[in-house]
Amino acid sequence: DTGGSVLLPCYCADLHTKLQTGLTWKYKTKGDEWEVISSESGQYRDRVQLVNGQSPGNLSLLISHLTEEDGGVYQCYVLGVGHVYLTLTVKGCLLVNRSESLRITAYTGGSVLLPCYCTDLHTKPQTFTWKYKTKGDEWEEISSGSGQYRDRVQLVNGHSPGNLSLLISHLTEEDRGLYQCYVLGVGHVYITLTVKGK
Ligand SMILES: *[C@@H]1O[C@H](CO)[C@@H](O)[C@H](O)[C@H]1NC(C)=O
Ligand SMILES: *[C@@H]1O[C@H](CO)[C@@H](O)[C@H](O)[C@H]1NC(C)=O
Repeated sequence: DTGGSVLLPCYCADLHTKLQTGLTWKYKTKGDEWEVISSESGQYRDRVQLVNGQSPGNLSLLISHLTEEDGGVYQCYVLGVGHVYLTLTVKGCLLVNRSESLRITAYTGGSVLLPCYCTDLHTKPQTFTWKYKTKGDEWEEISSGSGQYRDRVQLVNGHSPGNLSLLISHLTEEDRGLYQCYVLGVGHVYITLTVKGK
């Protein structure tokens, strides 16, 4: 799952075998080339480590803080010995109504649920935020701790981590406008809220 970690297994038949040199982990780039994985630079910076601890012949690679871009083909390559190919699939949030614009009407004094959710309600996106468009035409993050929405907003994801919907209560006419549910690396859903007087 995105945000999680995964162990890519690779080991010698005899786990006591010591390799002096010659182990490389590679991944296939979008341009179909093999690139060496490094914890010092590039896409895997600070996210990969060899976990051979107890067994020198255990060449497995641990990748953490997974993103959807990590999905693909990997290769554990040992010079003069051979290689193992692995295909990694990273499951993550796919937004329902992604890039679409929804229209919702609610009433002053009431509350409204702004819908936003992943196709698989069990997947939890790494990072998501709710924003609203200010009169100055800028996107501002909605917070229950301060500002216009103070103490009036709450996430309702209780039982489903993939339900990112936002509940706004004690609606005022000022709340009408454009909202955005933004999921890092995945996309966004726009919602236009109309607030009518009772
Ligand atoms: C290799 O090491 C990892 C981490 O300690 C462990 O989870 C895995 O089972 C080991 N593989 C083998 C074949 O012992
Ligand atoms: C998300 O949670 C809210 C509040 O519990 C619920 O009304 C809504 O139906 C849920 N959405 C989905 C897609 O399950």
